[in-house]
Amino acid sequence: MHIVLLGPPGSGKGTQSQLLIERFGVPQISTGDLLRSAVARRTPVGLKAEAIMAEGKLVDDATILALVRDRLAEPDAARGFILDGFPRNIVQAEALNGLLAEIGKPIDAVLLFEVDSEQLIRRLSGRRSCATCGRVFNIHFAPPGTPPHCERCNDRPELITRPDDNEQTVRRRLSVYDTQTRPLVDYYAARGLLRRIDADAAVETVTSRVLSAIGTD
Ligand code: AP5
Repeated sequence: MHIVLLGPPGSGKGTQSQLLIERFGVPQISTGDLLRSAVARRTPVGLKAEAIMAEGKLVDDATILALVRDRLAEPDAARGFILDGFPRNIVQAEALNGLLAEIGKPIDAVLLFEVDSEQLIRRLSGRRSCATCGRVFNIHFAPPGTPPHCERCNDRPELITRPDDNEQTVRRRLSVYDTQTRPLVDYYAARGLLRRIDADAAVETVTSRVLSAIGTD
């Protein structure tokens, strides 16, 4: 399985990736997660990316491509991969083609998650993560309970809000998606790889649509 999850912030790429990992045992390669890990570890990449992410802009292509190249070279990616949040513009898509040609693993499908923008804002304003293990909740759609309980790490977690999930940054991220990432829809459609998913539905319904789109339902 070599798939790309494409879609605006909050469209459910990370949520569906987790379910695909459990079902197919292939790793999720999320450039957002790689960057957040670099920020938390205070690496040179993290120090450079932190302010850019807080503003909702894209980190430069050379940094992103180096992260993806290294991650694809790790042994677990030999089984396949789910690219989440990458590529994000045409330059990254072209570079990905080159990278995958080198390792002989072309993309099988690009799944486009389509969700109404007001719903995206509601989802992002409600997103919370377990401070212990990172499991994602949503105070509107998947509440963690009272008091909060995380079944993944069996803890009563502190819930944290992503620094870029404030209203102003969310609007910037949505605008960056429209101008820089949306052109990938036509790019992948022209190559016969695009599968449109109506992702404005319950998580389980979206999962069924994803499985159907990749022919494994
Ligand atoms: P990144 O981490 O990739 O963020 P994003 O693309 O903005 O996507 P999100 O993680 O916000 O949303 P998601 O689609 O995964 O939704 P989720 O499943 O969590 O990027 C962050 C930043 O890093 C960028 O702004 C940029 O600065 C930088 N960056 C990353 N990659 C880059 C690249 N390639 N190039 C340059 N810069 C890059 O769901 C959201 C919420 O909704 C959750 O609370 C969830 O529980 C809930 N939810 C999910 N599905 C449903 C459903 N069906 N119904 C109801 N609620 C749902």
